[in-house]
Amino acid sequence: MLIRAGATDFPLPMPPRILEVGFGDGRFTAQIARMYPEWQILGVEISAGSVARALGRFRREGIGSVRVYHGEAGFALRNLVAPRSLRRVYVNFPDPWPKAKHQANRLLQRAFFRRLSTRLAEGGELLLTTDHEDYWKFAQAEGRASEVFHLETPPPPDFHLTTKYALKWKAQGRRFYHAVFRKAAEDPTPWPPLPRYPMPHALLAGSLPTLETFEKTVIRFAGGTAVLLEATRTLTPEGGYYFHSHIEEEDLVQDVLLEARPSAHGLYVGIGRFGAPLSTAGVRVAVEWLVGWLEGQGLQVVQRSY
Ligand SMILES: C[S@@+](CC[C@H](N)C(=O)[O-])C[C@H]1O[C@@H](n2cnc3c(N)ncnc32)[C@H](O)[C@@H]1O
Repeated sequence: MLIRAGATDFPLPMPPRILEVGFGDGRFTAQIARMYPEWQILGVEISAGSVARALGRFRREGIGSVRVYHGEAGFALRNLVAPRSLRRVYVNFPDPWPKAKHQANRLLQRAFFRRLSTRLAEGGELLLTTDHEDYWKFAQAEGRASEVFHLETPPPPDFHLTTKYALKWKAQGRRFYHAVFRKAAEDPTPWPPLPRYPMPHALLAGSLPTLETFEKTVIRFAGGTAVLLEATRTLTPEGGYYFHSHIEEEDLVQDVLLEARPSAHGLYVGIGRFGAPLSTAGVRVAVEWLVGWLEGQGLQVVQRSY
């Protein structure tokens, strides 16, 4: 940002933008927010219970500089974080996924590091603290393999050892490991936010058949997979069906209720009012499939919007 002062333009320093992945009960987040009130902190956490606990803590402690996203780190990084904007990312005690067959679930993999490089500012860094030596070594190997980070392994700063998990493992006498991954280059592959579409829907003429069975259907498309798992009859007087759909796209997994219900204008087919679905390519594919399937049952499309 530039402000004009007389004849001279001079840059105002941007407040540092900080990301914490997997903040758990939020006590570390609250601590850094108190220590550095000028920081703009985004906390990302996949567990709803943890989000609720942390929000309660921030409210009680009067902390207003933390924004919280309930969801997955890769999705948040891609869709909520501007390119080259982050000064620092904290990852304290990430789930270690110790079994070899589960290692694909680990957060700090080379693809994550490469993508992170596009969201970190020049010289920005990721700080890892863990009690899990194997994960610590794994993350270092992945960070090196990403070819976009410099790596250092100093001892963990004391204040990183005050998280809920740090205190738990300290009580058990465990050792702690730390690593600093500093951005050295940037992955040139574009990683734009996921495209979003208007809510897809259609109106059909004809009467909805009574379904005796519904066969699970898997639809593969360029960006992922949509699975229509089952159909459930609604108990509303006008009738209709919900179709439970599981949609996996890059950086996003959603369970979405599609619906087919009689309306004043015909049979409405679209996304049911349940949860907070994002209207993505995968949701569009699922609605499109459902409309086609109903056409196969003898209904005719009078209007479609996708
Ligand atoms: C072992 S706990 C550590 C919590 C906290 N950092 C601490 O040290 O007390 C790991 C946390 O990461 C969260 N988590 C795991 N994978 C995640 C992901 N992909 N995105 C966001 N949060 C994640 C879990 O829900 C959990 O709260």
